[in-house]
Amino acid sequence: MFLQRRNRILRQSPAIRNMVAETVLTPANLIAPLFIDEGENVKYEIPSLKGYYRMSIDNTLQEVQELWSLGVQCVLLFVKAKDETKDNTGQEAWNEHGLMQRAIKAIKAAIPEMVVMTDVALDPYSIYGHDGIVKDGEIVNDETVEALVKMSVSHAAAGADFVAPSDMMDGRIGAIRKALEQNNYTKVGIMSYSAKYASCFYGPFRDALDSAPGFGDKKTYQMNYANRIEAIKETQMDIEEGADIVMVKPAMVYLDIIREIKNTVTVPVSAYHVSGEYAMIKAAAANGWLDEDKAVLECLTSIKRAGADLIATYYAKHAAKLLK
Ligand code: PBG
Repeated sequence: MFLQRRNRILRQSPAIRNMVAETVLTPANLIAPLFIDEGENVKYEIPSLKGYYRMSIDNTLQEVQELWSLGVQCVLLFVKAKDETKDNTGQEAWNEHGLMQRAIKAIKAAIPEMVVMTDVALDPYSIYGHDGIVKDGEIVNDETVEALVKMSVSHAAAGADFVAPSDMMDGRIGAIRKALEQNNYTKVGIMSYSAKYASCFYGPFRDALDSAPGFGDKKTYQMNYANRIEAIKETQMDIEEGADIVMVKPAMVYLDIIREIKNTVTVPVSAYHVSGEYAMIKAAAANGWLDEDKAVLECLTSIKRAGADLIATYYAKHAAKLLK
């Protein structure tokens, strides 16, 4: 054959493939979620998140050190609140001596350069397992936002670099930004879960924190997975209200949304490769049906290719080791 163009020329060796790779995943793109528990020397493997642990602060510090040495520069904190601290107001969420507040301080003291992001939502503190305050069987918006504001300010006071509201109440980004300004936390960022879908893929996470909703589901605040244009609206509103980084969640079943958002906004875009997405790969790998290392790199690179600048993933450490 005489061919004017042979596309395989650019695929013929690893060096050439690397030279022309359009997407390069690095550990700096990764955010490691961490589940924090009370106690000492606690390292509890979450049954539906094989190889992932809920840890007390002491063990968390070792984990953070290891992540940092592997080039992962950002952690996203979640805490497992004790049952006796749970109620319908979520007040433990802004206890200045609460587990989250102690964890932030400990991490920032041990590794000050590590970027510490904190989950802002009431579900770990709610007797109902909902992200907001419940009244007459409904999750009330405006009172919940007041609680989220107190929670965010208390995380900022403890030293968080970013607060990450994952609740999907209306108006919370603007309210949180205003409160951060009023309290002079002018260096604290907001990573908004702006397009967060009501997804079955959060199942293992709710096991990790014992935070499954006690009644109903989260469909009155999280988005309907049938919708695309709504994701743009949600994201644009969060940016107008002051979000520094926006997020699409989950990631792999929403690559179209990630691309749509990336093409539309000018702030950094993150995506959350959620617990169920991790669990799927783990389960297939445990059965010998998938090569885990290859699956991890392919999935995370695909999420970046779709447009995510940052990826929160339970595979952060694993991927960083593979990328070394
Ligand atoms: C709760 C929250 C959830 C996740 C992050 N923050 C669960 C939910 O909305 O029910 C899910 C993360 C994951 O599945 O990995 N505000």
